[in-house]
Amino acid sequence: MKPIVIINFKTYKSGKDTLKLAKVIEKFDKKIIIGVQATDLHSIYSLTNLPIFIQHVDFVESGKNTGFITPEAVYDVGARGVFLNHSEHKLKYRVIKKTVKRCKKIGLKVAVFAGSLKEAKKLRRLKPDYLIYEPPELVGGKISVSKAKPEIIGKIAEKLKYPFLVGAGVKTSEDIKIAMKLGAKGIAVSSAITKAKNPKKVLKKLLG
Ligand code: G3P
Repeated sequence: MKPIVIINFKTYKSGKDTLKLAKVIEKFDKKIIIGVQATDLHSIYSLTNLPIFIQHVDFVESGKNTGFITPEAVYDVGARGVFLNHSEHKLKYRVIKKTVKRCKKIGLKVAVFAGSLKEAKKLRRLKPDYLIYEPPELVGGKISVSKAKPEIIGKIAEKLKYPFLVGAGVKTSEDIKIAMKLGAKGIAVSSAITKAKNPKKVLKKLLG
């Protein structure tokens, strides 16, 4: 089975650079989900066919809420889904719960991040479209989740009985193989691709 792949652009890229990378990814595989800043949504939506997720949305309703970004607003401009509770943008459980409900109601898919088995167990109750285990201490680091936390990945598969992805430090095809063997359905990755000088080459090596 082919892994589900999410590439989180974080704030490594913006504007023209985001679009450039999105086009490289699209050429490689149109099914790869990309997570971008809301400011880049419109240009990527107009110029590629990739499934676009926004890295965060706010629960606030339309109205007197300066500076917030609502699920409806990103949906209207072409977002297919949103990330919630990434370790770099943590949210309270009650906020995640009501935001997941609202996103689902309008047809936005939801990728919810968990930093531990305990958190994954709790967030599973919300039945997100994607549940992603990412140990925060390994994010952006040299050692992958597959190599550092194989027992937790295995436990998530065994105890949750729910499809999940893993992320943090993923850099090689071996990292993906290990994760899939342990029960993950795919991976979330960022720095290996967003910081690469030649992302096409890295994609090929990682997923080819
Ligand atoms: O959401 C994916 C991300 O947090 C993993 O980051 O740089 O460790 O691949 P990275």
